[in-house]
Amino acid sequence: MSKYLLSLFLTFACFGSLLVVNQQSWGEPRLITLGVSPEIATDYIHAVIEADRTIYSKRIVERLEKATSLKATEKWLEENTLPLPAQFLLMASENVSAQNLGMSYKLTSLWPINPQNGPENHFEKVALEAIHENPGRPFMTTVSTNRQLFFKAVYPDKAVTQSCVACHNAHPNSPKKDFKVGDVMGGIIITLPMGKSPTIAPKTVADYIYAVMESDRLIYTEFVVNRLQNNNVLKASETWWKDKTLMLPAQFLLHASDRVAHERLGLMYKLLSPWPINPYNGAVTEFEKKGMEVFMKNPQETFYGMHTVHNKNFFEIVYPDLAVSKACVNCHNAHPESPKRDFKMNDIMGGIMMSFPVR
Ligand code: HEC
Ligand code: HEC
Repeated sequence: MSKYLLSLFLTFACFGSLLVVNQQSWGEPRLITLGVSPEIATDYIHAVIEADRTIYSKRIVERLEKATSLKATEKWLEENTLPLPAQFLLMASENVSAQNLGMSYKLTSLWPINPQNGPENHFEKVALEAIHENPGRPFMTTVSTNRQLFFKAVYPDKAVTQSCVACHNAHPNSPKKDFKVGDVMGGIIITLPMGKSPTIAPKTVADYIYAVMESDRLIYTEFVVNRLQNNNVLKASETWWKDKTLMLPAQFLLHASDRVAHERLGLMYKLLSPWPINPYNGAVTEFEKKGMEVFMKNPQETFYGMHTVHNKNFFEIVYPDLAVSKACVNCHNAHPESPKRDFKMNDIMGGIMMSFPVR
């Protein structure tokens, strides 16, 4: 965990007047007005998509292409390779859409390798042109479709590694062959449904962020770690850098959360467990302990509330973290430092704690 996260936790632990609000009492008049603007909500969602995308591209694809013979290829399933960064994002976004939260995201480009990733309508074309003109700022607007309001934010998707550039420039179907590192290659379009209120309830925003995080976690664990381990291609290990292996799913999440913390949006998250391999991941605050107690009793329930630190309101929530892949169970049950060795598929293995400021 970064120093920044740690200091925030200490602030919480020492000065925070903990005001726990569960589902039933959420309607208290003082709190009902609190919401998150859609601009800030999409900034949070984008920060997680971007952090996971960058880690996957840099720390998995690019590093392993240099250090081993493993590559990312379009036919990754047949060829026993890594999914392309675009395929990783697409699979995760399909998993998010399948949850019917109303939030969706996708990758588009004015020069798509796959014509399906081109702009779908006039709005998308204008938005992509705008972020090429002005990559420092996302393009945001509200649109109305079939009398339903949607908030749309388009963030530039940049060539973060040489491998982005090399692969696109060399691809026979790429209409553009002169991308350079740092160029805007396309855009990530995030769509949120809007109701009557100009803001979004914090719990809804947290559910969106969690859906992205969990989908990336699932895709990484199931289609990268579990598949490549089972096919004897490559293992995941704690000392992944030295071993030239895959990083653990927990390390993937923690690296991403560090990147997100550096964005200084106020959004933070971390892993928790009552049976931690790393004692650092045990619950620290009363809120975290209570949160885990709640879903250990009833896995359908999530625990959330508001926290006030120096007159600033923070929304906090703890989601259960489930054994979504055989790899989760096998590794934890076999790990010498694991205090619990009888995890089964779909068991609760711990929790994901998330917090962000709310005005
Ligand atoms: C090994 C090849 C390869 C690498 C590496 C790669 N891409 Fe792609 N990218 C593709 C292919 C192939 C597609 C089309 C996937 C599909 O069928 O939807 C694609 C799709 C995309 C799209 C959607 C528009 C389109 O071209 O269809 C964007 C934007 C994009 N990539 C950006 C990036 C960025 C940024 C990186 C680095 C983080 C990257 N790509 C790395 C091959 C690659
Ligand atoms: C190849 C081994 C491996 C795999 C696969 C794996 N983990 Fe872990 N997990 C670890 C290790 C080692 C740690 C401690 C990491 C650290 O130092 O923070 C950890 C940390 C965690 C934590 C934080 C509490 C703790 O034990 O320190 C949770 C929760 C967790 N993993 C759940 C999962 C879930 C859910 C999956 C599947 C999506 C998974 N793990 C897959 C090895 C693994």
